[in-house]
Amino acid sequence: MKTLAVSRQFEYMLEKCRAVEGPDGDGSYHVDRVGELAYHIALALGIAPGPALELGLASKIHDIGKTAVDPHILGKSGRLTPQECEAVRKHTVLGAEIISANKDSIFDKARKIALFHHERWDGAGYPHGLKEKNIPLSARITAVADSLDVMTHRRPYKVSWPAEVAIENLVADSGKQFDPEIIWVVAVRPYKFLQRICKVGRRGF
Ligand SMILES: [Fe+2]
Ligand SMILES: [Fe+2]
Repeated sequence: MKTLAVSRQFEYMLEKCRAVEGPDGDGSYHVDRVGELAYHIALALGIAPGPALELGLASKIHDIGKTAVDPHILGKSGRLTPQECEAVRKHTVLGAEIISANKDSIFDKARKIALFHHERWDGAGYPHGLKEKNIPLSARITAVADSLDVMTHRRPYKVSWPAEVAIENLVADSGKQFDPEIIWVVAVRPYKFLQRICKVGRRGF
């Protein structure tokens, strides 16, 4: 993925997002891998390279709202209480608020992604329970990229899964959690597509 000139405010938010997640064992960061995956998914969907690049960059700060959530809750390895779950869910709305002070187009994309990346195609997501194409495409793409990366990497509460198992899970959730058109394009039709980019991810994008 090429780079794009970004403002100092964007770089600052990106650094905060990297700090919240912390580096993985291989020294790479969840937020950067999500950006790379979102960029490739956008290209596979036929989005032009320029807008795909902007979408990939904007998706890197999808979890900026976590900087406003209690780090003890975020780092907890056991099951979260209902109150803790609620506190974590607020990162969507908090993220959109943090980003909304900035006006460039990349921030506008990033604000929508931060707010809507936990919405589900079937309407059972949060914070607003939006359904299907009422969820912005950028957020639907980021939801797939985010889940794929979480499934294929270790977290305090889970082990990493092989790419094949993660892709099977995406396919099983097509039309439920995820936009079926996106899953069709990236995980069903050219089945090797995500397997190939997951391997790239292992090398540390
Ligand atoms: Fe999130
Ligand atoms: Fe994430």
